[in-house]
Amino acid sequence: MELIVAVYDDWGIGRDGTQPIALSADRKFFRQTTKGCLVIAGRRTIEDFPGQKPLPGRVNVMLTRSGREIPGFTVCKSPEEALTLAQQADRAMVIGGGSVYRQMLPYCDAAYVTKVHVTPESDTFFPNLDEDDGWYLAETLQSGEEDGIAYEMILYRRKASVR
Ligand SMILES: NC(=O)c1ccc[n+]([C@@H]2O[C@H](COP(=O)([O-])OP(=O)(O)OC[C@H]3O[C@@H](n4cnc5c(N)ncnc54)[C@H](OP(=O)(O)O)[C@@H]3O)[C@@H](O)[C@H]2O)c1
Repeated sequence: MELIVAVYDDWGIGRDGTQPIALSADRKFFRQTTKGCLVIAGRRTIEDFPGQKPLPGRVNVMLTRSGREIPGFTVCKSPEEALTLAQQADRAMVIGGGSVYRQMLPYCDAAYVTKVHVTPESDTFFPNLDEDDGWYLAETLQSGEEDGIAYEMILYRRKASVR
């Protein structure tokens, strides 16, 4: 399984249930990268989707303990349930937010990270993969600047475990 996230310089990813700064280049990269995938998101992240509508062209999975249903989303009550669905899909991506990334990261072996070089105040963070010995920077896929903000799309991979 894989994940996709946009992080600020302090690995912050959001504040008050939304992303304080979002780049259109990153939205495009997200759309391209997740196209056709099964995508797994927490209930709070889905509440931030425009109109709380499922993302088109993807199988949308929502993690919630509440039993809440939203049309177009398959509900999972645990990360294990989501993992079972992911294993049946051709390609599955975890798309946030903070609590779901943390819980699903151990099951992921690739991470598409957009680094947005700015530091707005965040209340939700992603683990810093640059300081995690279990991961390495495999490839810089894109880089650019938008509205004076530099960004890079980086693919991190989990190191093969040595036994
Ligand atoms: N920068 C990025 O790329 C990016 C991407 C996505 C989101 N975000 C940001 O991340 C923030 C949201 O993250 P968050 O941590 O607050 O919320 P979240 O992870 O999106 O959603 C949390 C909710 O998911 C459900 N959930 C979590 N763990 C579960 C489990 N083990 N079993 C069943 N359900 C579970 C619960 O829903 P119930 O309460 O309904 O039970 C929980 O309240 C926002 O600021 C958003 O903008 C950023």
